[in-house]
Parts: sequence; structure tokens; C-alpha cells
Amino acid sequence: MTKTTAATSSQDIVRIEPSHRLRGEYRPPADKSISHRALILAAMAAGRSTVSPVSGSADVASTAHCLRTLGVRIDQTADAWIVESPGITGWRQPSKPLECGNSGTTMRLLTGCLAGCPLTSTLTGDASLNRRPMLRIADPLRAMGAMIELSDDGTPPVTVTGGALRGIDYELPVASAQVKSALLFAGLTATDALTINERHVSRDHTELMFKALDIPCVLEHPPRYADERERLLDPSQAVAWPEGIERRIRLQCPAQSRPHEWRIPGDFSAAAFFIGAALGVRQADLTIDDVLLNPTRIGLLKVLKRMGAEIESHRESARSGEPFGRIRVSTCGELKATRVGESEIATLIDELPVLAVVAANAHGVTVIRGAGELRSKESDRIAAVAVNLRAMGAKVAELEDGWAIEGPTEWHGASLDSFGDHRIAMAFAVAALWADGPSEIRNAHVAAVSDPEFFAIVRSLTQ
Ligand code: S3P
Repeated sequence: MTKTTAATSSQDIVRIEPSHRLRGEYRPPADKSISHRALILAAMAAGRSTVSPVSGSADVASTAHCLRTLGVRIDQTADAWIVESPGITGWRQPSKPLECGNSGTTMRLLTGCLAGCPLTSTLTGDASLNRRPMLRIADPLRAMGAMIELSDDGTPPVTVTGGALRGIDYELPVASAQVKSALLFAGLTATDALTINERHVSRDHTELMFKALDIPCVLEHPPRYADERERLLDPSQAVAWPEGIERRIRLQCPAQSRPHEWRIPGDFSAAAFFIGAALGVRQADLTIDDVLLNPTRIGLLKVLKRMGAEIESHRESARSGEPFGRIRVSTCGELKATRVGESEIATLIDELPVLAVVAANAHGVTVIRGAGELRSKESDRIAAVAVNLRAMGAKVAELEDGWAIEGPTEWHGASLDSFGDHRIAMAFAVAALWADGPSEIRNAHVAAVSDPEFFAIVRSLTQ
């Protein structure tokens, strides 16, 4: 019998046995990105909100911890967070640094909120977060009028002295939903309109959640999407559109969050590891229920289908504007190599490690480019993926902004490293299932940054 043993030793090594099958029903944990935003919006509102179900991720716990330090009451029951807040204007001066742990989303989004708050707060994190770039939020927030101090190399700790903010018209230099959301949260307290221009649309949860709260936030697309007839009849309606911009977001400032009952769909990024795993085993029949199907998040499905994967997705409904539904993955035949370029990257940024692993199973050379952002994540994911793929026998060339991966691979059980990065630990737990013998992943506990149950679920679905 094949089994996956989550044997935690003093060195925190998880041993994974190969498996020929993956089957069953999987309900992913509450989406991490939306959970962070729901807690923050609830804390910005004066009154009582609920957020359910609860994400068990260490990252979302970091957001809750920081908000409590700012004087927001957050009680956690089995199925909901109950948030009672005086509203952002009543947040209290923190008496200690805001500890963001491993969570870049916590640090960047809260910096945005605090930029308009008359407090001085310092945000810090673990060794990995304290190496990550923060100028990307500091520059535009300073342009809005915030006082922000960083280390000399532009990394945390971040000290924010908030005050009166003005709106700006800003083009995001990187496709980053964290930067966009930091600015949108700051914009809620600004005096005049904030415009954000995106070259590539990144996840749009903040915009959808603003809509659910009736915060006046307008999403504009290039004129080719506008009403052609109206423009033909009246040329003055033609909109001047900045070159190369895919979406423009206009927030009428100031605006206010208000209490809400947030219902959070399952995390597609958590589901992605099991979708990937199913594509490499001989017998696969996996149903994923109640999972987020927001088009700005599920670029992986499009790429995998292009590679020949058998994946069906059915949208069921929407919660707070977020589409969700069911995904079914069955045993697939040969996968074929593909090319992924910059225009698709933002829609699958967190899924790239598992996509790289799946690509090593495909016939031919898969080239993934335009993903230089991966070098600034919880680890240098381009290097980490290349090191672990090679250790397992895959052929991979590390590029400045991605990889060229030649498959198929004869996977060998290996000694692997998480590099302190949850998505590297989980992606290589997937590859380890396909190997000819057991693998060990060092420092694997970091998977809890996404989902403390991850290895237990691998065990139950592969039995
Ligand atoms: C996130 C945005 C992405 C993603 C991260 C979560 C968010 O980061 O990688 O895991 O919730 O906004 P970037 O915006 O920096 O690409």
C-alpha cells in the first residue's frame, strides 16, 4: 500500500511516499487573499462584521494579530471570525511593532490602511518577509502624502506615519494586487480621486469587495470594450486611453467601509496543488467543491487545458461578487508542453511552482517567461524550483524571468528543500507522489502558512 507519512522530526522533515492514485472530494480552506481583505475591511468599518468560514492559514492569523494590536476586537469561533471595531478612525496607537510573520499581503495592505491613519506604526516580519521589496508600496503612498520609512535597501521594517492623503493617477510598475490594494485602502481616506492603471490585470478582490460595500470604485477597460455604437454616433465620446493599459480603476475618495457579513469561497491556490497532483498519477478522480472561480485567479486552468489536461469547472454562484463552483479532474493522457508569457502571469502567479512541476511531466519543452516577480516572493521561487526539479531528475534551465523545462521526467525520490516557502514545500510534495521512491522535504512545516492541514489532506486523498 502506498502512503504519505507526515513524520515531523526535530529537523522538521516530511517524508512523502509515492502514490499511483489521487481521488475523493476536497473542499479547500477559505481563500487567503479574500480572507485578509475581509478582516481588514471589517476592521476599517465601525461596528460588527463576520467573516466565514475561517482560514486556518498562518498568514491570515498574522493579519488578525496586527488588527488586534491596533485595538480591533476579533473573536474566532469554529466557523467565523467576529470583528468588532471602532472603525479606522478609532484604531489605537500600537504599543509594539505589528508582527506580520511571513505574510507580504498583511504588511502591504496594512501599510496602505495606516498611511491615512493619524498614528505611527512599525510593521515587521520574519526573516523572509524582512528581505522583500517595499519601495513598490512606499513610492506611491509617499506620492499620496504618507510618511514612510524603510531600511536603506527598501526592505522592512516599514514605519508609517499616517496623515492627510491626496489621490494620484498611478501606473503600477509591477502587476501586483498587493500594491494595488494598498493604494485602494489608502484611497479610502484620501481627499480626491485615486486612479490606478494596470498593464496586466491582477486579482481584483479588493475592487469586488468595494463594490459589495457600495464604495464608488469604477473599473474601466480600453475603448475596444466600450459601447462601439455610442462612440460611432458621437466621436467626442471616444476616450483617451493610456497606451498599453489593460484596466483602469477609479476610486472616488474619500469613502468608507461598513460592517458586512463576508462569506469566503474556497482557495483556488490551495486547490491548485491537488489539481497538479491528479495530473501525474495513474488513477485520478478528484472533485473540488466550493472553490473560487474568479477569472483573475484561475489562469492555471487555462494553461493546463491547453496542455491537454482533463479538467471541468462549473460555476455555481457568486458570493460578494466572487464566482465560485466545482472543479473535476480526471486521469489524463499525455500532457504536451506549452509557452506561458507575461500576459498570463498575474492570473497564475502563485500557481507557477506547481505548474513548473506539472510541466516537467509534459512532452516537449515548456517555456515560462515574464515571471521575474517570483524572485521576490517568500523565496527566490525561480531558483528554488530549479534546484528541487534537478534533484528529482528533471531537465530545467533557470532563466532570469522563468524556466525552460523539458519533459517528460522520470521522477526520482530525493532530498528536497522548502527554502522556507510554503508553495515550494507543497509543489514538491506533489512531485514526490510521482517518484520511484520516497522523498523528504526539509523545513516542510511552512506549508501551514497556507494550510496547516495540507499534508493530512495529501495523505487522505492518496490512500
Ligand atoms: C496577493 C497577491 C499576489 C500573490 C500573493 C497574494 C494578494 O502578490 O502572490 O500570494 O492577496 O493580493 P503580488 O500582488 O505581490 O503579486
